[in-house]
Amino acid sequence: MKFGTELMRQAEALGQFTEDPPLLTRTYLSPQHRQAGNYLIGLMQRAGMTANFDALGNIVGRYEAADPAAPVVMTGSHQDSVRNAGKFDGLFGILTAIACVKDLHERGRKLPYTLEIVGFGDEEGVRFGVALMGSKAMAGSFEPSWLDKADDAGVTLRRALADFGGDPDAWPSLGRRGRVAAYVESHIEQGPVLLNVGLPVGVVTAIAGGSRIRVAVKGLAGHAGTVPMGSRQDALAAASEMVLFVEKHCETHEGLVGTVGKLAVLPGAINVIPQEVEFTIDVRSGDDALRHAAVAAFQSAFEEIAARRRVAVVAAPFYAVDAAPCDAALQEQFAQSIAAHGIPVRRLPSGAGHDAMVFPAICPMAMLFVRCGNNGISHHPDETMTAADADTATSVLLHFLEHFDAAAFAATTHAA
Ligand code: GLV
Ligand code: MN
Ligand code: MN
Repeated sequence: MKFGTELMRQAEALGQFTEDPPLLTRTYLSPQHRQAGNYLIGLMQRAGMTANFDALGNIVGRYEAADPAAPVVMTGSHQDSVRNAGKFDGLFGILTAIACVKDLHERGRKLPYTLEIVGFGDEEGVRFGVALMGSKAMAGSFEPSWLDKADDAGVTLRRALADFGGDPDAWPSLGRRGRVAAYVESHIEQGPVLLNVGLPVGVVTAIAGGSRIRVAVKGLAGHAGTVPMGSRQDALAAASEMVLFVEKHCETHEGLVGTVGKLAVLPGAINVIPQEVEFTIDVRSGDDALRHAAVAAFQSAFEEIAARRRVAVVAAPFYAVDAAPCDAALQEQFAQSIAAHGIPVRRLPSGAGHDAMVFPAICPMAMLFVRCGNNGISHHPDETMTAADADTATSVLLHFLEHFDAAAFAATTHAA
């Protein structure tokens, strides 16, 4: 196997850089981010690339074209993880691209474009709540107010960047508008579609958009043994009704998914009626209008529940990203690379978010999905792919990169 065995070994090695052993958790700007970055920079340099951290902690490698005026094509994915993650989400997209460049380098082959491979510092948004910060800086949609966001320990993004050795105020210099002909990304599917149809890879058609909302419910604490049931202002009971509303609304509107993944209760004592609850909502859809309508429906339902239960509620949307269609010509190019391997071409949408989704603002974008084992489970330690599929996906990406005429493509698109 040309690539697969080594890729599995690398994914295993990177899985050791965790804040939470034996679980895998690697958040933005943690010491483990630096360790993973150093590991990736080493791989990139040995593959014939120049590589370094940028001002926001993204890991950026360049495989220069012979002609310095040649276009730039970008690929990669994210180095950060969710809590208790699998080893392939994000990392595979970086490793597979480095494996392609290593192969080109060993054959002494340059590309007619400069290939940038980026390990984005933050995609999951676990530490500061805002997702896709690395890729948004490159796509020109970084918001400076994010620098004041704090993690659960009260450390602001500005402080964390400075401690990491980055430069918080240098984010505008990361923008790539007008300088990238195309962005392509390979990623584990994180679902069961390819597994169920028995195919190792597939072409992504579009990436679902998402909104994040923080909800604060305020009731009145009281003695668990003395306050009669009918006269309580229990913040947790009210929040529970809200959580179930989110589930019901998304179940009954085809194309929506909604998740409450974080919930905190104060004072959090067994014999005290809950006074305050804070929870988050993550709602997604391929249809932006359906998602906006869901956010509005949550707001009005929460107000009704709060009034009826005599608690106060504030639902504050704090982050949103629109659905992103993949470029038709790049999809076709991926389809040809898959077909060249004798594999039937399957197209499928992505319900998960990816760094790729911010790039349509500045250049055409496309994605290759790789089959996910274990019933498609992801954001979970059981997430897996086989070495054979890693091998096939890398060979398909390499075929794509070697057959991509970036100059001709750029001349026919409107890369901003
Ligand atoms: C990232 O994996 C996301 O879709 O939240
Ligand atoms: Mn993820
Ligand atoms: Mn991912």
